[in-house]
Amino acid sequence: MTGIYDSGLGGLTAYKELRRLCPDENIIYLGDTARLPYGTKSAATIKRYAAECGKYLCERGIDRLLVACGTVSANALDELCESLPVPVTGVILPASERAAKTTSNGRVAVLATGATVRSGAFERALASIDGRLEIMSRACPLFVPLVENGEGPDSQMVKIAVEKYLSDVRDFDPDTVILGCTHYPIISRAISEFLPGAKIISSGEEAAKEISRFCVKKENGRTIFEVTDDPEGFSRNAAVFLGGEIENYSLVGIGEQRL
Ligand code: DGL
Repeated sequence: MTGIYDSGLGGLTAYKELRRLCPDENIIYLGDTARLPYGTKSAATIKRYAAECGKYLCERGIDRLLVACGTVSANALDELCESLPVPVTGVILPASERAAKTTSNGRVAVLATGATVRSGAFERALASIDGRLEIMSRACPLFVPLVENGEGPDSQMVKIAVEKYLSDVRDFDPDTVILGCTHYPIISRAISEFLPGAKIISSGEEAAKEISRFCVKKENGRTIFEVTDDPEGFSRNAAVFLGGEIENYSLVGIGEQRL
């Protein structure tokens, strides 16, 4: 069984790809919706949340963990790899490798949360793959709350936020754009309309491709969705993104909620 962990809906972009690649895999999806957004928190807080959620998923019996959250991957991946008894895959390296293979003009933009941009994790990964790449990183803090409130790529509010955050990214003229926060692919059409011609890379999808290589056991294709707050709201928005009702969703307590 594979565990997928995000602060909320964003990890569904990885879930959808993993489900497509591995229809038999049993998956438990954890969205820490009670403590979302993660991207505005300090590295120390993100590490604490990640440790609690990772431990919880291991207790639920996962064989491997997909950290389908750019913010956790950027700020807490090493700690999770060291402390958890299962292999852990994050989104930074798979997305960076794909970007380095994709770009022709050598200019790569990274769109992510404030905490991810502050960490410098994408810049380090991209530079280690190809030191000649020019990189521009941009924090887009309103994207996560917009997506969590059900705003899609046609929403006026999304279009205004895209213009606000991406005007100077457009001037930088990247041919490759990493959506370094897994929520952003949900509004990727609005982003690609603003940056026409740029290839858009979904960090969650790339990480799902990477972990799918290890899902070799035949299982029965069951999915359990668990969230730490408002399961109905999560299931409503998840159903829109996944294109169908979701079953098997429930509320769980993690960290201090567990007392
Ligand atoms: N999906 C998370 C990420 O990839 C969103 C973080 C947040 O909750 O702000 O960074």
